[in-house]
Amino acid sequence: MAILVMILLSVHALAGVFWVGSTLALTHSYFEVTPKLFRAQMGAAVLAFAAGLALWGLVIRGAQGPMADTLAFGALLAVIAAGVQGGMHRSNPVRAQRIAAVLLSVTVICMVIAPYVR
Ligand code: HEM
Repeated sequence: MAILVMILLSVHALAGVFWVGSTLALTHSYFEVTPKLFRAQMGAAVLAFAAGLALWGLVIRGAQGPMADTLAFGALLAVIAAGVQGGMHRSNPVRAQRIAAVLLSVTVICMVIAPYVR
């Protein structure tokens, strides 16, 4: 069980780091460049989300309180960010990355501070 949680946490963090890192980098890119990473970003988003949901089921397990609320808020912002990236990737991909970068930065903050929120 501990091994499974460690594997899921590693997959979750790696996929999340790629998603957030590429989003932050692409805020400084051009219209032509941004769509090239779209599929990889969405793949990482799906992986981060799936591993995050599995962790929720294994670690949080219905617990309520400030930690769960903080994780849930961060996850909600990540889902909105994916929607923005998916919805705007043809019309205005660089702006999509910029909006998602703000949302995903707050997601990362929520994920890492969650265990300490009282
Ligand atoms: C997409 C929706 C997401 C969901 C449902 C989700 C869910 C979770 C859950 C339940 C945990 C707690 C695991 C534990 O306590 O063992 C966690 C931790 C973590 N998440 Fe997410 N997460 C999401 C997105 C992200 C993203 C985009 C990142 C970006 C890097 C991220 C980074 C992290 C990190 C680094 C931790 C470990 C925090 C720590 O234990 O100090 N998550 N996540």
